[in-house]
Amino acid sequence: MGDVVEYETHGAIAVIALNNPPVNALGVAVRQGIHDAILRATSDPTVKAVVLTGRGRCFCGGADIREFGKPRQGPSLSDVINMIEACEIPVVAAIHGTAVGGGCELPLGCHYRVGDSSAKFGLPEIKLGLLPGAGGTQRLPRLIGVAPALDIMLSGEYVGAMRAREMGFLDQVTEGDLVRGALEYTNELIAEDKGPRRTRDMKLDDSGAEKVLAAARAKAARRSRGLVAPQRCIEAIEHALKIPVEEGMQLERKYFDELVQSDQSKAQRHLFFAERLAHKIPDVPADTPVREIRTAAVIGCGTMGRGIAMSLAYGNVPVTVLDMNAEALEKGLAGINRTYAGSVSRGSLSESEMEERRGLISGTTEYSDIAKADIVIEAVFEEMDLKKKIFATIGEVCKPGAILATNTSSLDVNEIAAATDRPDDVIGTHFFSPANVMKLMENVRGEKTAPDVIATVMKLSKDINKVGVMVGVCDGFVGNRMLYAYKSQAEFLLEEGALPHQVDKVIYDFGFPMGPFAMGDLAGLDVGYLVRQHRRKTKPSNDRESIVADRIVEMDRHGQKNGKGWYLYEEGSRKPIPDPEIEQLILQVSEQLGIVRREIGDQEILERCMYPLINEGAKILAEGIALRPSDIDLVWIFGYGFPVGKGGPMFHADHVGTDKVYDTMKVLYDKHGEMLRPAPLLEELAKSGRSFADLQS
Ligand code: 3HC
Repeated sequence: MGDVVEYETHGAIAVIALNNPPVNALGVAVRQGIHDAILRATSDPTVKAVVLTGRGRCFCGGADIREFGKPRQGPSLSDVINMIEACEIPVVAAIHGTAVGGGCELPLGCHYRVGDSSAKFGLPEIKLGLLPGAGGTQRLPRLIGVAPALDIMLSGEYVGAMRAREMGFLDQVTEGDLVRGALEYTNELIAEDKGPRRTRDMKLDDSGAEKVLAAARAKAARRSRGLVAPQRCIEAIEHALKIPVEEGMQLERKYFDELVQSDQSKAQRHLFFAERLAHKIPDVPADTPVREIRTAAVIGCGTMGRGIAMSLAYGNVPVTVLDMNAEALEKGLAGINRTYAGSVSRGSLSESEMEERRGLISGTTEYSDIAKADIVIEAVFEEMDLKKKIFATIGEVCKPGAILATNTSSLDVNEIAAATDRPDDVIGTHFFSPANVMKLMENVRGEKTAPDVIATVMKLSKDINKVGVMVGVCDGFVGNRMLYAYKSQAEFLLEEGALPHQVDKVIYDFGFPMGPFAMGDLAGLDVGYLVRQHRRKTKPSNDRESIVADRIVEMDRHGQKNGKGWYLYEEGSRKPIPDPEIEQLILQVSEQLGIVRREIGDQEILERCMYPLINEGAKILAEGIALRPSDIDLVWIFGYGFPVGKGGPMFHADHVGTDKVYDTMKVLYDKHGEMLRPAPLLEELAKSGRSFADLQS
């Protein structure tokens, strides 16, 4: 037995401890180690019970994801868990920190479970494009019921100790030292002669299950469109209800093996590692000290400011929202109350959680009230002069060491930083709307941003449950710069022969929640119009520009907010209805430009939208604005709704083949000129037979 699994005895109890940092992942050596330890315990007549625990930061983070797709070695996790469950002496799991994935299936195979107050359990396989593959779909519903089990598996979210006790996952929440508590608990079991209690033998309550499954199917179809794992997960739970446990486990294993080989799971596993890699910033080593964030302030109480305030409150950070206009402040705070009330009525937030979070948010109209904040996030209108004025003020008012962040989505962070006399404290924190929901934080380092400011903001992203990605300064940073490359091609397609609903359908079918025109209507068309006007004045260029987008706004069509944009909207409805007036306008514009309209096929639309997006990503990489391809993938997955099952634009480019993307870009360039010139990096990769993954660092 290797030392990744430790064995010791305490009287009549064998304590088996996983010791495989950082998260006790269940790689081959650990599985073998548990197997051998169980054998040792059960072969020793003096051992009357076993406690299974984990050393380090958590009980267990699950199967070793790095082993997926490789030839299987040693005992399988299912075999090890079945072996534990079959033991004739009681086996008790003692859980601290997370017990997730296979690390949750392991205690499900134990006969009893105790945890300390830090214990959390969950089955997050769905986030990796998988379903639990070591009995989780068959055991968890038997232990806690079909509805909560479905919820846990389909959301992939973790459940804390108290709730876990209420649900029946934990038998006891211990205080003080966990292993000591687990030993006491186990000694009581021995004293009371309580033998094994096997989850597989528990009776599954099937009342109302059909309804629950149907609702889960409908929800998965809506929320996880195109993803196979949620469907398989629901099927497996249905098997738990209908067929013997052993057969259910075999089918679960079959689904797992299929999914592990699927492109969707490979893409989602790529994203799992991408999220962690994003925190590795070469010139900001992991041991860079961070500044403590105990309190925060947000400037501006509009949609963004409110969302950011709620995000901070979610992370338990008290936040003061400042708006110079008392009426706007009141309106903003009322908006926050409404959003929370909505979450409570939908059941996604409890009354007490709402009170707690609302209690962390206060409002002010005075700068002096935010002087002591550890971080100030400015979230006012996207106007350079206004931002500079605010930064000059907070540079003076805020305490030394306070981080001064801007939520700009495209403006020059260096110019904003220069408005203060402490540019090293300044950084961009670009949230996405609605900021309390969207997971991305595109953090923008300026030329002078201090390393500890970078480290602190990346940590804050994690603390408030966001996906933080550090990027450099350029127009639109990573996300909006690539968005511009994609949206402008979508608009040119209209001038050349396509219609908005045709383009939108292609993008929707690819897997985005909506196409660029429906998205424009949702976000509001007037903002983009103002940005374009400003850009024309400040950065005149001869690049081709779409005329239709401007015409629409000049026709007073601002999108959903006034019921008409690229589409028409009926009162109170968000359903886009194609509008003959827009079709007419598009035809007129083509004629005016002297373009002979032609039939444009779906594949051409897809390539014309996606490949320039990838091409821009390649330029961004070459310029060092993004550190690695997977950082770009995160930005597009978590900020722009790029389909998760495709892993992000750069991962998708590798899937298609960099040579194929390059060849198509070359054809587009020959036809449309400079704006579609292939990026040199893309050309280099294509010609040397490499992929973006080869650039990962
Ligand atoms: N396999 C391999 N590596 C893992 C891992 C796993 N299951 N879980 C975490 N890691 C690695 C991370 O990649 C990271 O590596 P790095 O330091 O080289 O970047 C390191 O462990 C630390 O991870 P975090 O930065 O996420 O550490 P935290 O302390 O913030 O969080 C955690 C720990 C809560 C366990 C978190 O890592 C987590 O939620 N992991 C989820 C793992 C998961 O999805 N498990 C299911 C696996 S699939 C499965 O079990 C199949 C089964 O049903 C058969």
